[in-house]
Amino acid sequence: MVNEIKDLKGPKGLPIVGNMFSLKLNELHKQIENWADVYGDVFLLDTGLFKHMVVTRPSLINKISTERPDYFSRGKKLNDVLREGGVHGVFNAEGDEWRKHRVLIAKGLDVKHQQSFYPNLVDKVNRLKRKFDAAAETGEPYDIQKDLFRFTVDVTTDLAFGYDVNTLEQEGGVIQDHMEKIFPTIFKRINAPIPWHKLIRSKSDREFDLAVQEMNKLVRKFIQEGREKLKNNPQLKENPSNILESILVAAEEDEEVFTDETIRGNLLTLLMAGEDTTALTISWMIVLLAGRPDIVDQLRIELDNIMLNSQGIISEYKLNSELKYLEGCAYESLRFKPIAPIVLHTALQDIQLEEFEIKKDQVVLTQYRHGALSEKYFSDAKEFNPRRWLKGSGCPVHNSDASTPFGSGPRFCPGKNLAILEIKAVISMLYKNYYVEMITPFNEIEEVMAFTMMNTPYKVKLSKR
Ligand code: HEM
Repeated sequence: MVNEIKDLKGPKGLPIVGNMFSLKLNELHKQIENWADVYGDVFLLDTGLFKHMVVTRPSLINKISTERPDYFSRGKKLNDVLREGGVHGVFNAEGDEWRKHRVLIAKGLDVKHQQSFYPNLVDKVNRLKRKFDAAAETGEPYDIQKDLFRFTVDVTTDLAFGYDVNTLEQEGGVIQDHMEKIFPTIFKRINAPIPWHKLIRSKSDREFDLAVQEMNKLVRKFIQEGREKLKNNPQLKENPSNILESILVAAEEDEEVFTDETIRGNLLTLLMAGEDTTALTISWMIVLLAGRPDIVDQLRIELDNIMLNSQGIISEYKLNSELKYLEGCAYESLRFKPIAPIVLHTALQDIQLEEFEIKKDQVVLTQYRHGALSEKYFSDAKEFNPRRWLKGSGCPVHNSDASTPFGSGPRFCPGKNLAILEIKAVISMLYKNYYVEMITPFNEIEEVMAFTMMNTPYKVKLSKR
């Protein structure tokens, strides 16, 4: 039977405004999970002006994701809000334009580039270790997350633009300070029923404008220096060494797609996509591991075996592939705490998927944690069990397509491998060398949705092992 979206069940709202006033943006992902428990894995969310189709069923999420970019876009509203912030790049480009951006970005983030970049990554892990050493020395409560953000900024800027900003060893005024003003405002604007920011400028709107200005200034500097480098080293045109160089070379050949705006937009996209996401995932992992000392013990057995001859840091790229238990911890953390649990889509044409007739312009909101934590797809789904990701785990139900923290289909996250490499590098260094004690009780740390799913602030005490 074919179902029309308008006939779907969903939370009952008020006349005219629907559920507009019962939406709690900073816990939207949890509201969706609660509604999915009541109305099923596909339901209707009426927000007054719009009737959103909400999908938590993994098979349907994967089909919708796979039909991009021809049948679904990320949506006009998201695109408008990002473009207002000067972001026009691979994340919000569509159709053939997206295809051209995607090829360049994905190539610059591929395994070959990561391998040759690895010594630079190790340098940054060493810097982070110096910060951890200093924190362990004093024994004072330590805001580890702040340094994780700086670490991921340093890695992304170096890998993608060949630029060592070293925010880890700077005080104040760093990229991270600007970026933390950007995501929450974008999320608020995307979800605002009326574009209030165009009528009234709040303090956060003014901070957002300033942050965008600063980020643009920085990105212009990267571009200018990148162009000079290419001019002085024309041989780089044949074999660009990073994403910035690849885009600048592409811009010489395709001025229509790679304009100054899209060059800048892609650099901003990479900074934003590569920073919060990975730092928050590592941060959530530390919180989850704090609740499971037995798993930390298992992890240390693996680290002590594999890091026998290291100086507390995995300096050989190929050893990373042996960190299987750590990888299981990472996938399990991402199953419980996917930092981008909601992905938006808008239908570009009518399409029938599973039993649903989705009409052009229909907004579809996919939330994939609900399925990832369901017994239907994972045995003992509410149990944090890294072993379920290992070969021969013996878990009777393990449907890995139901946990897609990096999205799926042709627009899945191109930074996945880099993110996993960074996670391995930091977590192995942290748990090999230090005891991590939570100062803030781990079960008091809450989820806050602000485009990415952040954690409320916490502090740890580090001591040397
Ligand atoms: C643990 C870390 C990360 C997570 C969980 C994550 C998750 C995601 C998700 C869910 C999407 C949307 C996928 C979809 O629409 O199906 C995405 C897209 C994207 N991510 Fe990531 N990401 C992470 C790290 C990174 C890193 C390190 C980079 C690059 C430096 C990156 C670059 C991008 C880009 C460019 C897109 C847009 C792709 C497109 O539209 O074609 N991400 N990511």
